[in-house]
Amino acid sequence: MSYNSNDDPGFLKVLSFLESHNTEYLSGQDLSDVLRISRVAIWKHIKKIKELGYKIESKQKLGYRLASTTNLLLPWEITQGLKTKNIGRQVYFFENLNSTQIQAIKMASESKNNGAIIIAKKQSSGKGRTNRKWYSPEGGIWLSIIVHPKFDISMITLFPIASASALCQAMEKSFDIKPEVKWPNDVTINGKKVAGILVDASLESNKIENIVLGVGINFDVNIKEIEKKLKNTPNFYGIASLKKYQKNTSAVTFVQIFLKELEEIIELINKKQVKKIIKDWTKRSSTIGKNVELTTNEGKVRGKAIKIDEDGALIVFDKKNIRVLSGDITHVVD
Ligand code: BTN
Repeated sequence: MSYNSNDDPGFLKVLSFLESHNTEYLSGQDLSDVLRISRVAIWKHIKKIKELGYKIESKQKLGYRLASTTNLLLPWEITQGLKTKNIGRQVYFFENLNSTQIQAIKMASESKNNGAIIIAKKQSSGKGRTNRKWYSPEGGIWLSIIVHPKFDISMITLFPIASASALCQAMEKSFDIKPEVKWPNDVTINGKKVAGILVDASLESNKIENIVLGVGINFDVNIKEIEKKLKNTPNFYGIASLKKYQKNTSAVTFVQIFLKELEEIIELINKKQVKKIIKDWTKRSSTIGKNVELTTNEGKVRGKAIKIDEDGALIVFDKKNIRVLSGDITHVVD
């Protein structure tokens, strides 16, 4: 099943009426009279509301009452109260999808999808960096964001770095934690991976047509189960789950805060505020200053991580400065 921001208007009318009158019971007949929808349709909508994880209490003779909201990242829940101008104004939610990234790439070229986000409850073939699989069970936040950027192609390598900073910023605002970034753009808590970022871009004659930003966040996942599954995969260094750090920030609120941070940092890229973006990233970096080992297409690099340059490349010192644009990193414990 999938849902989008312009879902069945009748359904959304019933849901928002129940939301705004959640202290009282409303009979099917009252709902039908006020909303001018047939009783049969009201019943059908209530059934769907329950199926989507909202808790509806019903009492004979009194009717229905919305007792609590859903945990699902449903489009209308995200757009309600969202503070962005463009990002997340269109949301597509899928119960089951191979990969939000693959789906978003298919939709990315259409101008109406600029800023759209694709979310899945679970993914059967989630994509990670360097063609790895990304295990995506229920409980995580798996989403891809389509961006038709205004900025120049020369700024594109900063985009993943900036996105990682926006994600950290959103975590700091929502939870009592100090997340770090592990180069290039893993987000970690106490040295364990809480989120990963994947960027696919479509370029045409030296211009960016669109970017798809894929973000996988271990929001409320079973750490033991994921660690068991992934412990023998390359570059695995442990899993963290965000919800462990504070129980009452919902996934919806967290996504709304992240989208706002992301929109703001994209504005910084538009204004070519390279120094500020690099400074923000560096202040949260767990990589800079550490001895590292990198596996790159050109072979292994070992040395001390000095800084990132204006392209987001890592500068590693081993007798001389070596510039690494992409690769797998391990922090070496001396
Ligand atoms: C990484 O390897 O660290 C990046 C992982 C990115 C995973 C996300 S989950 C949502 C989106 N859809 C995908 O298939 N992958 C990205």
